[in-house]
Amino acid sequence: MTFADTDVRGRRVLVRADLNVPLDGETITDDGRIRASVPTIKALAEQGAKVVVCAHLGRPKGEPNQKYSLKPVAARLGELLGREVAFSGKVVDEELVDGLKDGDVALLENLRFEPGEESKDDAARRAFAQKLAGLADLYVGDGFGAVHRKHASVYDVPELLPHVMGGLVAAEVEVLKRLTENPERPYVVILGGAKVSDKLGVIANLLTKVDRLLIGGGMAYTFLKAQGYEVGQSLLQEDQLDQVRGFLSEAIKRGVELVLPVDVLAATHFAEDAPYEVVAATEIPADRQGLDIGPKTRELFATKLADARTVFWNGPMGVFEFEEYAEGTRAVAEALIRSQAFTVVGGGDSAAAVRRLGLPEDGFSHISTGGGASLEYLEGKTLPGLEALQ
Ligand code: 3PG
Ligand code: MG
Repeated sequence: MTFADTDVRGRRVLVRADLNVPLDGETITDDGRIRASVPTIKALAEQGAKVVVCAHLGRPKGEPNQKYSLKPVAARLGELLGREVAFSGKVVDEELVDGLKDGDVALLENLRFEPGEESKDDAARRAFAQKLAGLADLYVGDGFGAVHRKHASVYDVPELLPHVMGGLVAAEVEVLKRLTENPERPYVVILGGAKVSDKLGVIANLLTKVDRLLIGGGMAYTFLKAQGYEVGQSLLQEDQLDQVRGFLSEAIKRGVELVLPVDVLAATHFAEDAPYEVVAATEIPADRQGLDIGPKTRELFATKLADARTVFWNGPMGVFEFEEYAEGTRAVAEALIRSQAFTVVGGGDSAAAVRRLGLPEDGFSHISTGGGASLEYLEGKTLPGLEALQ
């Protein structure tokens, strides 16, 4: 069931959205998650619900902190909806909700200002969930980017209220099912980002599913080192070397083609204007650090993507925030855009990178709003926020 089959007119509907957007002061630098949340909120408002949106922003750790206020998000959401979004600065605000007329929309302040939201103590979480549930007659779970968190607004509130899955979560899950249940082959996954330790579970699981695994970004250096090459000053997780050696042999055993960078942009230091030279990935000088994949790797990765029928990509190939070191990430994105495959960009940094680099969002089959959530799904984990909506 979705809320499309539910009569919401005149009812107070609590929508858990993921509005965790990057901010520069009070300026939203990427509003992708707000835009993705609009259709569900809009549909509910148009059907005459009193819509109460709740969400988190950043990690204020259970204390009010104006740096993490959702106020700028309320303003942007209002612009996108073309209607005012009531915002009071309180997390649980009965008065605000009582003042709503049918079709009105309100946004509660950052849920993570309350310690109960993220508490590991079931009773504390439940107590906060009771307060949130008291504001509404129906719960709509639509915060895909947070479904992997066992938090009050994600996991406990739906146990206390009649609940339905929102359109965004439904769409995201459909895409993930297509990746996990019988994907069209060749199935190629590209992973990047800084730390291999964030991706251990997903790599282990993907090695049993994919035809090819391309590794770029900071995590590639731990793979290169595990193969016996020196990586200079590049990012390296020494404590993950054994694990990564295990992945390398597992890939061989399973016939998965594991593709690493063959060249890198080796910079003198970590800075926007740091000079670099292109070096072979096997010959990184001791005093240099790799900040992006090199031109040969850009081509190699593009070739490895060309015949794919299904592609999942998570994590930038280099420090794309620095213009000089954005070409690897751009090349991968462009290869996906050219591809005829079912192409999925897995949330977080890679989705932001696509927009930041000015690439057309409609060049991909799907850009997910959840990085961690997609990865945990692909890892085969049960996600609390999805479980709660069953
Ligand atoms: C995200 O940005 O990944 C989601 O909004 C979840 O946020 P979190 O990682 O701080 O729980
Ligand atoms: Mg995260």
